[in-house]
Amino acid sequence: MSSFKTIEWKDDRVLMIDQRSLPLREVYIECLMFEDVAQAIKDMVIRGAPAIGVAAAMGIALGAHKSKRKDKIEFLAELKEISTVISNTRPTAVNLFWAVKRMMNLVNENKDKDIDWIRNRLVEEAKKIYEEDISICKRIGKVGSELIKDGDTVLTHCNAGALATAGYGTALGVIRAAFQEGKRIKVIASETRPFLQGARLTAWELDKDGIPVTIITDNMAGYVMSKGMVNSVVVGADRIASNGDVANKIGTYPLSILSRFHNIPFYVAAPISTIDYNCPSGDQIPIEKRDTKEVTHIMGNKITPDVEVLNPAFDITPSDHVSSIITEKGITEAPYSKSLRALLG
Ligand code: MRU
Repeated sequence: MSSFKTIEWKDDRVLMIDQRSLPLREVYIECLMFEDVAQAIKDMVIRGAPAIGVAAAMGIALGAHKSKRKDKIEFLAELKEISTVISNTRPTAVNLFWAVKRMMNLVNENKDKDIDWIRNRLVEEAKKIYEEDISICKRIGKVGSELIKDGDTVLTHCNAGALATAGYGTALGVIRAAFQEGKRIKVIASETRPFLQGARLTAWELDKDGIPVTIITDNMAGYVMSKGMVNSVVVGADRIASNGDVANKIGTYPLSILSRFHNIPFYVAAPISTIDYNCPSGDQIPIEKRDTKEVTHIMGNKITPDVEVLNPAFDITPSDHVSSIITEKGITEAPYSKSLRALLG
């Protein structure tokens, strides 16, 4: 496990490591109200699909816990409002909606119970989602490590590590597991403009664990692949459509094209909660557009002229670029419409 906690329920509040300050400062923020959790998700204090799923669940639990309503109907209406606020924080990672649905299903199935009972169960459920996420990531790691050989160099994009989950990570879970099995592996972390999750977060957490990591800028990926410096690419996912198309951090799609061109296996590691079985293909996945200041400013300083700027936070990698999808229930391959559905059985 990692030596820091990404998120934690402690003394009736939610604590999070502030990922905006890493790696320069390791500071933790306290969320006292559900609105604080919603704002933290929006502002990227916490980010990464499974981590925002856990945060969403804890946000609803916090809202229920702090509610002053004595009337059941009013209490249930308030929970509905809380779930809407949490759902409106970020649109792409399906884990957020998965977690909200799981929490609200619990409410809807137990409407006859008293307010205190519902409140306590929601807190228990949020803690359970947190614990489950850690064990799911460990299983993903164990399953996926068989794809990594001793001596391999693995390229990863963004941060799909302990910081992006309740702990351990998905793509970095695979890397951690291979490393813990004694395989001598190296990691190349692409910096991931504009938010720099690769350079700031992936490099920080791997270095903390003693896993050798080299940072490259995003536009160096073609160079390192063409020089035979990469044995495989392992990334996480924010949403996987039922046909196997993958939404992940902007810049994942070009990496998949480069991998294909250079015959390098391209693996996606994700929990089953990241698969959106109601979404037929990548075309239907909503892509978050973030504040263009993330592109135009570096550490508060404007670096661009006043021209039009785009800032889509995710892109879609078509399923035929994906060599395997690694889940807690095993490694799946094309045709994904069949193999992903089989995971449900
Ligand atoms: O915008 P972010 O930092 O939330 O995006 C995160 C990613 O794209 C990750 O690769 C993905 O959520 C997988 S995390 C296990």
